[in-house]
Amino acid sequence: MTTFQPTASTYKQGSRTLPGEFYTSQAILADEMERIFASAWSCVGRESRLGGPGEYFLASVAGESIIVLRDAQGILRAFFNVCRHRGTRICVEESGRFIETIQCPYHAWTYSTDGRLVGAPQMNEVEGFDKRDYPLHAASLARWEGFLFVNVARDPEPFENLWAPMRERLARFGLWGLAVGHRVVYDVRANWKLVFQNYSECLHCPTIHPKLASVLPYQSGANDLTEGAFLGGYMEIKAPNESATMSGRACGRLVRGDLPQSDRHRAFYYSLMPNLLLSIHPDYVNYYLVRPVAPGRTRVESEWLFHPDTLADPANNSRDAIEFWDLTNRQDWDIVERSQLGIASRRYAPGPYSLRESIPAAWDREYLRMMGRLPAVP
Ligand code: FES
Ligand SMILES: [Fe+2]
Repeated sequence: MTTFQPTASTYKQGSRTLPGEFYTSQAILADEMERIFASAWSCVGRESRLGGPGEYFLASVAGESIIVLRDAQGILRAFFNVCRHRGTRICVEESGRFIETIQCPYHAWTYSTDGRLVGAPQMNEVEGFDKRDYPLHAASLARWEGFLFVNVARDPEPFENLWAPMRERLARFGLWGLAVGHRVVYDVRANWKLVFQNYSECLHCPTIHPKLASVLPYQSGANDLTEGAFLGGYMEIKAPNESATMSGRACGRLVRGDLPQSDRHRAFYYSLMPNLLLSIHPDYVNYYLVRPVAPGRTRVESEWLFHPDTLADPANNSRDAIEFWDLTNRQDWDIVERSQLGIASRRYAPGPYSLRESIPAAWDREYLRMMGRLPAVP
């Protein structure tokens, strides 16, 4: 949804869209899994989803099933959903709560919620067997602004290094304190990159989103992140609208009471590699977790976040924001599905990006860099 005012420094002349195979090839998707998703920090949702000890949910990261949980001591952890006995997937319920332990249904190997193997029937007769050698495989976990991130690499680059550009950038919005008011999972019949590219420009807003374009003029605003893994900027909310909602009215409280005056009429849109799209409005936030399922299929998990006082108020206007984006999202899915159909044509060839598409062009560059395919600069 990012707009924005392109400048010579943010737009590279000659930028073109990616070749068709990037949207249709199973081999490229497999390569993306290895080169991007298996080494990056993927967002898996909100920390508040894990309320009490033993609560867990399953996340899919780089094709791996990961158990994300709060252990008996309250510590957040992530484990590969793989039994250390004969490899069986331990958990299949998408979320739930472990009572005391995690038990594999096959031969009842049993783990504590901190991952230690505590029970292994008949194994005491096996010479040299020591339970301490078989804890659940841990995945790395990081937290930022109430979001949880998982990395499945054995020796990942520290989250703090990679996310340094974002660390304090959005602190003024108090994202960590927001509560989930609504959740939707979308099944999109298009390549995951089309979802990112579409989010990254608002050139399509007047044609695809007449409602949105009346609230957020696509020529307004500016980008503040224009190169690299984190991209985006803001748009102005057109007066007399108070927010990006169907009626233009705010949902309730500001996301943070002391939000700077300059942020109270702006909407911020960021695409954060590899899988997070983050939309921040003065009175609510919505975000998207984008996961490739097949070359032409993407799962998008979306939640709307509000100040807890907004949700506690029965007279809140949260439906107005939910409806606004659910409508806009469905318009986006529809058009990216049509893009997927056209790109699959024998005659498709990379087309030229305009200056108003400087962010998708920058996103493509970063994507190609991560894939090790960036052409040498002439
Ligand atoms: S495979 Fe899990 S207990 Fe045997
Ligand atoms: Fe859109």
